[in-house]
Amino acid sequence: MLIKAPSDIRPSEITPESVYRQRRQLIKAMVGGGLLMAAGPALALERYELAEGQRRYPGPDWLQQKLRAARAGEPLEGEPLAPYRLITGHNNFYEFGLDKQDPKARAQGFVTDPWRVEIGGEVANAGSYHLEDLLKPHALEERIYRLRCVEGWSMVIPWIGFPLADLIKRVEPTGNARFVEFTTLHDPEQMPGQRGFFSTLQWPYVEGLRMDEAMHPLTLLAVGVYGDALPPQNGAPLRLVVPWKYGFKSIKSIVSIRFTEQMPKATWNQTAPHEYGFYANVNPAVDHPRWSQATERRLPSSLFSPNIIDTLPFNGYAEQVAHLYSGMDLRKWY
Ligand code: MTE
Repeated sequence: MLIKAPSDIRPSEITPESVYRQRRQLIKAMVGGGLLMAAGPALALERYELAEGQRRYPGPDWLQQKLRAARAGEPLEGEPLAPYRLITGHNNFYEFGLDKQDPKARAQGFVTDPWRVEIGGEVANAGSYHLEDLLKPHALEERIYRLRCVEGWSMVIPWIGFPLADLIKRVEPTGNARFVEFTTLHDPEQMPGQRGFFSTLQWPYVEGLRMDEAMHPLTLLAVGVYGDALPPQNGAPLRLVVPWKYGFKSIKSIVSIRFTEQMPKATWNQTAPHEYGFYANVNPAVDHPRWSQATERRLPSSLFSPNIIDTLPFNGYAEQVAHLYSGMDLRKWY
């Protein structure tokens, strides 16, 4: 993957975090005083105020209603959220270009509603579902996660979604299902990065998880960020978020979820197997062949404040997920 210089973020653009902190304190005080008991749990959307001129993505009406009811998530103590502008302006989405700014610039006309998702393979309830129908039974919740890109940068992002495990239980995989394969939309007309000459990868983008990874409670299907719908550049209308793995596992704009016996042929793993493994667990002890993975640049960062921090095993989620890999040589299964 291409490594780019960080976008310089002015301190004034980090306002949402301070607003967020004030609200957090207010929420804590209200919980302490029992004031939230009657009002129900805190809602994600109410936490955020964006600076003037920052575009929000309300999404379709049916989604907006669900987003408004999303329960607020727990912040990561001592790790501020990346500003909205950075989360939605510094993206990897090769279907819309190679530069970090390309997806925001080129994905604005991307049609994400209506949207269908094909459920298939080793599963009882196979079919082509409207996203609205697929989401109907699921209450949304906020999850504040670290996203660690294999390129060496990271951000803290407040996603909104629901556990993939809940969807998997509903569609009832058969006993033969050992993996889950996810596929991004293939539509060269809408996605300039998939067109002709400058096309970089084999399309469509495919990713996969082992069944126990897919069923893990941290694994999220996201439809929103920062209290609102996902913008197209972040993988609207439906993306995966697997916080203990390098960001390339978190596939965007999903149109197919298949249950398979064989390990899926994941795009980066197929493109450069010696650089990108199928598992792709964040691991400071296993370097990328071309750079170290021991540290990361936590965004926002700048020339004068590079904000380099140690990378943690499993991106800080070892306590929850290390047992999934007990007995496996993580140097071999990188
Ligand atoms: N999904 C698709 N379909 N295409 C991509 O190029 N890039 C991946 C992942 N999902 C990518 C993708 C990579 S490398 C990262 S780091 C994350 O998306 C970035 O997510 P973000 O842009 O929301 O931060």
